[in-house]
Amino acid sequence: MQIIKFDKLDSTNKYIKENKNTLSNYDVVFSYLQTSGKGRNDRVWISNEKENLMFSILIKDEELISKYHAMSILSAYSVRNYLEGLGIPHAEIKWPNDVFIDNKKVCGILLEGSLPEYLIIGIGLNVNQKEFVGEFKTTPTSVCLETNKEFDIDAMLETLVSKLINDFELFKKDLINPWIEIQNHNYLLNKEIKFVKNNIAYNGIVLGINKDYSIKIKTDNQIIDISSGELEF
Ligand code: BTN
Repeated sequence: MQIIKFDKLDSTNKYIKENKNTLSNYDVVFSYLQTSGKGRNDRVWISNEKENLMFSILIKDEELISKYHAMSILSAYSVRNYLEGLGIPHAEIKWPNDVFIDNKKVCGILLEGSLPEYLIIGIGLNVNQKEFVGEFKTTPTSVCLETNKEFDIDAMLETLVSKLINDFELFKKDLINPWIEIQNHNYLLNKEIKFVKNNIAYNGIVLGINKDYSIKIKTDNQIIDISSGELEF
């Protein structure tokens, strides 16, 4: 495992994808600036230079790759617990893999990969940024805005990466169950959401997360389960 740092990259996820053959399991690529950061559903991830964490972890372990739905929740859970340790006890997991504090987004996670070859877990955590300019689907926040403290980005990277990898290893040994963990920290539970499935738009209330990590939603006249790939807010 190594952490490779760049001053500037287009996207850490893209770098890993292009270099996956020469990189190893749990290698991490970090950049102080991304010029073309990728978000979920073809959105962009915009983040100020040197103020935030932007990194990706390569997974080459076949067992973990095959359990990518669990890995998605587990990554968000690790970040959520890490934030608790920094004095933010009320961070929650927004299915499938964001971390919210109250109604604001502090962390976005983008999983990309190809089964059974590799999985890339790309993490964007807002750390020291205080002003967010532009249009956002959900209001952003940062660790600094929530704690009134500034953090050392490089030290935070080391600690968070070892926490994530430690949690992945515990998961392999069945010592963490992401499904159980999200029950206590499910940001969307009982919330009304809009979603699109098979080109049909619905409104519904979130009833919970199923054992296969799909989400259970009650609409006016039916209960619908959707997996992470299907949801568009
Ligand atoms: C989202 O909320 O839409 C997911 C955002 C993921 C952003 C991170 S930043 C590091 C990694 N590299 C990217 O290009 N994207 C992810």
